[in-house]
Amino acid sequence: MRTAEIRRRWLDYFEQRDHTVVPSSSLISPDPSTLFVIAGMVPFIPYMLGQQTPPWQRATSVQKCVRTLDIEEVGKTTRHGTFFQMNGNFSFGDYFKEGAISYAWELVTGSQADGCYGFDPDKIWVTVYHDDDEAAALWKRIAGLPEERIQRRGKKDNYWTTGQPGPAGPCSEIYVDRGAQYGADGGPVVDEDRFLEIWNLVFMQYAIDDVRSKDEFRIVGDLKQKNIDTGMGLERVAYLLQGVDNLYEIDEVFPVITAAQELSGRRYGASRDDDVRMRVVADHVRSALMLIGDGISPSNEGRGYVLRRLLRRSVRAMRLLGVEDPALPHLFPASKDAMGQSYPELVTDFDRISRIAYAEEEAFRRTLVAGTTILDTAVAQIKRSGGLTLPGDQAFALHDTYGFPIDLTLEMAGEQGLTVDEKGFRELMTTQRERARADAKSKKGGQAASTAYRALREPGATDFTGYTELSTPSTVRGMLRDGAPVHAATEGDTVEVVLDRTPFYAESGGQDSDAGVITADGARLEVLDVQRPIKGLVVHTVRVVEGEITTGTDVLAQVDPEWRLGARQAHSGTHVVHAALREVLGPDALQAGSYNKPGYLRLDFAYNQALSPSARSEVEDVANRAIRKDLGVSWQYMSLPEAKAWGAIALFGETYDDQVRVVEIGGPWSRELCGGTHVDHSSQIGLIALTGESSVGSGSRRVEALVGLEAFHHLARERALVATLTDALKVRPEELPERVASVVARLRDAEKELAGLRQGRLLAGAGALADAAVVLGTTRTVAHDAGEVSSVDDLRALALDVRGRMGQDAAVVALGGIVKDRPVVLVATNAPARDSGLRAGALAKTAAAVLGGGGGGKDDIAQGGGTDVTLLPAALAAVRDTVVTAGGGR
Ligand code: SER
Repeated sequence: MRTAEIRRRWLDYFEQRDHTVVPSSSLISPDPSTLFVIAGMVPFIPYMLGQQTPPWQRATSVQKCVRTLDIEEVGKTTRHGTFFQMNGNFSFGDYFKEGAISYAWELVTGSQADGCYGFDPDKIWVTVYHDDDEAAALWKRIAGLPEERIQRRGKKDNYWTTGQPGPAGPCSEIYVDRGAQYGADGGPVVDEDRFLEIWNLVFMQYAIDDVRSKDEFRIVGDLKQKNIDTGMGLERVAYLLQGVDNLYEIDEVFPVITAAQELSGRRYGASRDDDVRMRVVADHVRSALMLIGDGISPSNEGRGYVLRRLLRRSVRAMRLLGVEDPALPHLFPASKDAMGQSYPELVTDFDRISRIAYAEEEAFRRTLVAGTTILDTAVAQIKRSGGLTLPGDQAFALHDTYGFPIDLTLEMAGEQGLTVDEKGFRELMTTQRERARADAKSKKGGQAASTAYRALREPGATDFTGYTELSTPSTVRGMLRDGAPVHAATEGDTVEVVLDRTPFYAESGGQDSDAGVITADGARLEVLDVQRPIKGLVVHTVRVVEGEITTGTDVLAQVDPEWRLGARQAHSGTHVVHAALREVLGPDALQAGSYNKPGYLRLDFAYNQALSPSARSEVEDVANRAIRKDLGVSWQYMSLPEAKAWGAIALFGETYDDQVRVVEIGGPWSRELCGGTHVDHSSQIGLIALTGESSVGSGSRRVEALVGLEAFHHLARERALVATLTDALKVRPEELPERVASVVARLRDAEKELAGLRQGRLLAGAGALADAAVVLGTTRTVAHDAGEVSSVDDLRALALDVRGRMGQDAAVVALGGIVKDRPVVLVATNAPARDSGLRAGALAKTAAAVLGGGGGGKDDIAQGGGTDVTLLPAALAAVRDTVVTAGGGR
């Protein structure tokens, strides 16, 4: 049975039983404290908690989910996938345990001819929470399951939580026995590979908080109503019903393995290592496809980083399969074709999706090239100094800075005969991981806050008045300190304040939050930040600068008008720059992210190469012309489909309400979905000066600009700079570039000449040094400190010159010098000296040992170095002593 068919049967079955079919929501988690939707119930949490009234009492969905905690396990087991689909049926205060168990039993074991899945009832086992006698009795009565196929387990296995404060409850899981060839008998408590869990029925009836682990949390009370949340793993059922061995071989995933086989010329099933690689590719490519489909782009943090890792791991796995050419352009279409039936938007949007994926592969390939060069240089250096091991910190730097995977470092260092200090590398990785965990913990504090925010949101959404006024009388609805509710705050305190109504714009859509004050009788609060941590709730972070404030107080909330004017200029400026970019570079140069605050804007957009200086000027020119045209700025509300049909640009990664606000500047020239604050006419923006253009990851560029007075000040500063230079160089402004170039060229020539003169002077002393050689035994020896020299090469040239003047007898020349504050000793020996056992390499090592550094080289010329220049005389003396004892003195 195809996966799409299993999915369809699920939705039909529950729709026929009065459940409303709810489309999957995006993979982006609605809760800011988690990255992705991890279960089918996530979009329904507010209904379960009773924070919102559910529009229906029964619902069903097939929800897209991503879990990446077990990413390293992917491909190695039969059931770990980063992307999966969860079939769910939900009851909000309607049916409970009995209904959930009856439906599940019928759908699992009912015949395929009747639209069910047709599993053999004798192969079904279930588990219940250890004291849930009610569920156990229902399984006996409804399904006729014998006692021994109803197993009881503790909190860790049979109590479901999201891992965060919220709804939770005991659960009952349904397993299918795959047969003796997959493991030991005895049910899921013995072997979870043989007994595969397909469906989890959660009896959601409690609210929990203080979640420390799977089985450590605090039950704070009953939910308003008893709910049912079930989740069936669509992929798992598919692999059972399709008679394959694991989820990578089902119809929606295997086509990528087929493509990987074709590309690599290797066969799936021939070697375990290759099989794992192909499964990794199949899983990751599909997950990446779905994530990009939902508007996520590769980046170095959060969701974008997960996506980047998935893409890079795929490319890396293909490399290990012997494919060095771009692989994604073959793999992505295969995955799109497999998933397109269930998700048609993947097909219509594939152009954009594939562009992002392929650009990331290109970028990673460049990383591999850069990393390889760095690794090669490090390896060469280590070899030169006689080492055999690549230090852990270098392996870590390659990994951390260049995204160079450790297995690649191991493999490539091995090819060159070096081992890697893996222990050191792992220690650094652990430190980094611990730091990340500590970070995540500190964010967890925010989860307690998120419960408190929900409570503050309950009486209704904050009324935003800031489109029409800057000063609004309001009332303090509540306050939080460190995430916990407080009743009062006094001078010096920093707290979060929620008002009934506010003119303060909360940071969103790229626009920074408003600045200003909130005042009350005798109290003055300075607004430091304004955020909307959950939908509909505006939270002001304030410092109490005067007086005291309590919940319920009447206040006046006042946005700083200067600030707001700057914010409007900057935000409208961002739209103007966006439209200008698309006019100059083409409509594909779509905004991928932006940030603006008074005087400044930055905008990231999709584009594959750096802007040429002329393109940059043109963008700036188009933007400033639009300002000069004094275009009208207007906004209106409409439905999302209407807005799209109207050509308004919706940004990926943003979630929009049914009714959206469309802001226009100059009619269709700039039409964007935007909740920001804007000027009334484009001329009010004043001036835009582009100040920078750079890369922000593959396929994405960033422009930065100053706006309004800031732009003017910037240009004025540049003018002053030019004036200083023309003054100093005594030229007209337009002659500056030429003059600077000629000054630089002359400087370079002079430096070259100086270096030549220095070397000449040094070499001129060669004759005198040779003449002053002392005879130690039979060896003529020069041991001389040349003082400061420009380079080691100069010292080497002098050593060779002196050696050449010493005639046919055995000769050793040792020259000390200081190069860039560090001591160096150069040793040269001639053939008769070498014959008598005096080798330059060994002598240089002797000198280096005194200098506290390393040394070596060939038998005829070698060098040693160190750190302490005061030891140079001692180092030369050591060479002299060695000549005396090792041969010369004989
Ligand atoms: N929330 C439960 C799970 O994810 C059942 O849907 O397993």
